[in-house]
This record gives sequence, C-alpha cells and structure tokens, in this order.
Amino acid sequence: MDVVVVADAEAVGRRAAAMVLDGLRGDPSLVLGVATGSSPVSTYRALAEARRRGTDFSQVRCVALDEYVGIPEADPRSYHAFVRREIAEPLGVRADHLLVPDGNAPDPEAACASFEVALHDWGGVGIQLLGIGRNGHVGFNEPGSALDSRTRRSALSETTRADNARFFPRPEDVPAYCLTQGVGTIAEARSIVLVASGPHKAAAVAAAVQGPVTEACPASFLQRHPDATMVLDPEAAAELAGQPTSESSRAR
Ligand code: F6R
Repeated sequence: MDVVVVADAEAVGRRAAAMVLDGLRGDPSLVLGVATGSSPVSTYRALAEARRRGTDFSQVRCVALDEYVGIPEADPRSYHAFVRREIAEPLGVRADHLLVPDGNAPDPEAACASFEVALHDWGGVGIQLLGIGRNGHVGFNEPGSALDSRTRRSALSETTRADNARFFPRPEDVPAYCLTQGVGTIAEARSIVLVASGPHKAAAVAAAVQGPVTEACPASFLQRHPDATMVLDPEAAAELAGQPTSESSRAR
C-alpha cells in the first residue's frame, strides 16, 4: 500500500482527484466507486473544478458503497441524495449512470444480490474512493465484518451512529441498519484510494496500515490489495510509526 501525506484536507482532495483524473484519461467510461460522508467532499470539489476546466464526466458511471435502511431516497440525508448533490450534479454524471444500494427495498437480500449483479454487469469498479471510520470501518463494514463479505444488510455500530448523528436532528434518528458493499466486494476494485484527514482518524489509519490484517479493522484489507493508496493529512498520519516527513512514502 502507498501512503501519501499532503499539507491539509484540501490537498488530500486535490491529490485524490488527480488520481481519478489520471484513470479517466485512460478510460473515459471509468466506473468510479464513490464514498459518501465528509472525507471525500474535497475530492469531489476538485473533480468539479476539473470539469469547469473542461474534463468530461458524461461517460463515467458511479457506484456507491452503502445506503441507510429506511431513509427515503429524496431525503437529503440519504446517500442517494448525497451522490446526486455532491457528485452527479457537479460532475455531470447521468442519472442512469448511478448505482446505489436500495435501502428501502422490501426484500433487502434480493436488493443486495441485484446490486452485485449490476456492478458485475458494469465490469466492476475501476477506481474506488474510500473514507475510513474512527473504528476502521470501510463502507459500513463495521469491525467484525468478514474480509470476504459481500453486499448485505448490516447493523451500524454505536460509534458510527454517534459519528453520523451530526446529520440528524436527534441521535435516535440515526438509522440502525444499512445496506453496504462487503469488504470482499470493495476489494475487487482494480485501484483503491482512501482519503482521511483530522486527528480523529489517526488511530484507525495506523491500525489499517501497520496493524494486523484482521476483521477487527476492516480497512486493514488494503494491505493485501495490489493497488491501494492512502492520501492523508498530517493529523490523520500522526500515529503511523516512522511516519513520513516528506510528502510521499511507501508504507509496505
Ligand atoms: C460512506 C462510508 C463510510 C465513511 C466513513 C467516514 O459511504 O462508506 O465508510 O467513509 O464513515 O466518514 P466521514 O468521511 O464522514 O468521516
């Protein structure tokens, strides 16, 4: 895994966006795996800036990692809404080029199976953008998720519900369940770029990069991925042993 440390959260976004734009130059119909949450917002902003300078995203297809169970798609807090607002509209990605798990499906198991089929039919993810939870989760694969897990209905941990309470009026309004790509599903992306910034991510980043590969820290699967890069600000990199002082370094 490569670890790149840059000046701040905006620079994290610019660096991750540069990696996406590189991929897009080689494949205009790139399948881009997109994370929601705060971490990748600076990346989406940098991609939108590239669009203003002429980059064409009209053939790009976007695949989300996860969705809450029981939040209507039109609700601004749904990940459907996030993908439309933060990614599809600013980049000009077509509505029929978006794939997001259906958190309101009457049969969640069937919805997860058809999500996997649709992803397969698109040829899988070319570049996957990831964030990381304070507890080492990726997508909504909480600690204990099998490293070969597939898209499924899952429970959110109390840590994650507390972290995401900032988006809801009351802590008890945070959904308890989600549909999420599995760690095994995410691991099939050909290239993965995880972005993290801030001191609250430092312990999870260190565990993912330098701890054992274990279900206790789902992001640790990245150590086994053939093309994974973490782009960090100095605070998120702070607990890495022998942390790089230069801008870029190879962790393993
Ligand atoms: C979101 C997702 C999550 C977030 C993680 C970090 O689709 O899959 O794994 O990336 O919870 O969230 P932020 O970036 O808000 O700290």
